[in-house]
Amino acid sequence: MDDRKPNIIDDLIAMLGEKAVLRKADDTKSYLSDWHNRFHGAAHAVVLPVSTAQVSEIMAYAKKHNIVVVPQGGNTGFMGGATPDKSGNTILLSLRRMNKVRDCDAKNMSMTVEAGCILQNLQDVAENEGLYFPLNLAAKGSCTIGGNLGTNAGGLNVVRYGTARALTLGLEVVLMGGEILDMLSGLRKDNTGYDLKDLFIGSEGTLGIITAATMRLFPIPVSVSTAFAEVRDVDAAVELLQKVQAASGGMVEAFELIPADIMHVLFESFPDIQLPLAKIGDMNVLMEIGSTNPADNEPDGNGSAPIQNIMESVLANAFEEGLVIDATIANSDAQRDALWEVRESAPESHKRAGKVVRSDVALTQSALAPFYADMVAGIKAIDSNIRICGYGHIGDGNLHFNLVQAAGGDPEFDAKTPKLLELIYSKVTKYGGSISAEHGIGQAKRDQLVEVKSPAIINTMKAIKAALDPKNLMNPGKVI
Ligand code: FAD
Ligand code: LAC
Ligand code: ZN
Repeated sequence: MDDRKPNIIDDLIAMLGEKAVLRKADDTKSYLSDWHNRFHGAAHAVVLPVSTAQVSEIMAYAKKHNIVVVPQGGNTGFMGGATPDKSGNTILLSLRRMNKVRDCDAKNMSMTVEAGCILQNLQDVAENEGLYFPLNLAAKGSCTIGGNLGTNAGGLNVVRYGTARALTLGLEVVLMGGEILDMLSGLRKDNTGYDLKDLFIGSEGTLGIITAATMRLFPIPVSVSTAFAEVRDVDAAVELLQKVQAASGGMVEAFELIPADIMHVLFESFPDIQLPLAKIGDMNVLMEIGSTNPADNEPDGNGSAPIQNIMESVLANAFEEGLVIDATIANSDAQRDALWEVRESAPESHKRAGKVVRSDVALTQSALAPFYADMVAGIKAIDSNIRICGYGHIGDGNLHFNLVQAAGGDPEFDAKTPKLLELIYSKVTKYGGSISAEHGIGQAKRDQLVEVKSPAIINTMKAIKAALDPKNLMNPGKVI
């Protein structure tokens, strides 16, 4: 054991080079606060390694000298997981410069990529190979695959392809102390002992640093139909999802709930966004079906493509049954983009709206509508002017039940916040849901985690953490 007090900065520079060790406040600022500007921390330095070997060296050094390491990708996470505490005894390890595609195996429909690759770039890499990488979120231009795996990100296409975990075949991880676990593999089946990679996915940087991953690819859904429909209520939305799945043979790529208040809040920040329908309906869905068969896009004798015919006939039936009130189907890429803009601008518009109580809950399909109705009644009893923005990925039972302060601002909003959070968590428990569907726990929901998990589960998590990180140096204060 070397007890000498190290000169951390000099040592890091010797390891990584001068340019890879950021110290000045101007250079480190954007790494030390989160996207929402809710969490703020400090660090000895922000380091930007370029290889797994360098990450390993940093981790060996950190363990030897009892220095905390906080991994960070695009810093778009919502739970403060990538923000260090204020002690300053932290190396903030940004993976952004580890952004090489190591291999794209088109025949195996997989690619092996480094953790710092930006999600959108990976979508482009796959497309250049004539393939599709379906992980998709509004932060795609800045989030990284390492962060996506660290949080087990969900996003817009989970209903068809699953979360980041389901897309992962192999992983490369560096443990605290520097040991490298090479679990990279393009195999679809491999039952050789415990599946360690699943431990690291969704562990939010508390067990090790993900340095690379082998991800699954898919055929491109070349024929797509996108529709925006006003629905009778949440129950009708759930019924509509089943109908579209059945009529299309499981081709639903995305199915998103959009209540009226989402659009009211949206237009405050983005007044030029196009209204999808003539008027803003109380409850709406944005849905997309996709086929990998190009013929599904070829107009038939009536000038309409088979994929559009499926969407039209589902909507016509749903209209007859009173599930759908009004609807529009995109007839061009521009129209499709305009519909998606409404949905994808929601998080940014909530950020700009100032005071918001956010949540990220998961419910079973059967519990979605009763949960929603119960929530609306509870919120109205607290404040009838709150904008109720319960929106999101209901195709997989995930709602971002965000509550935005009344238009024009509400000086009492902070005082109402504890009551609103209590309402959300009590209703999630009542309906057997999850307090975190896709954003994770980070530092924001750490206290709630122990409330919703049994002592036996928490103790098992702690035992795993202690086995991999006995000195508690890997992103401490997050998750557990
Ligand atoms: P960061 O924010 O940098 O880190 C997130 C967590 O992962 C931290 O705990 C960090 O320590 C850890 N981590 C980062 N890199 C590594 C690594 N290499 N190894 C180990 N741990 C690591 N999320 C969704 O799931 N679905 C959505 O639809 C969605 N939409 C969003 C829309 C917007 C506009 C924004 C801003 C965010 C959205 N998010 C969404 C949240 C966020 O984008 C995701 O959580 C994303 O996966 C985070 O990636 P990142 O690279 O920014 O990670
Ligand atoms: C969304 C993010 C917040 O789906 O997860 O908008
Ligand atoms: Zn989401």
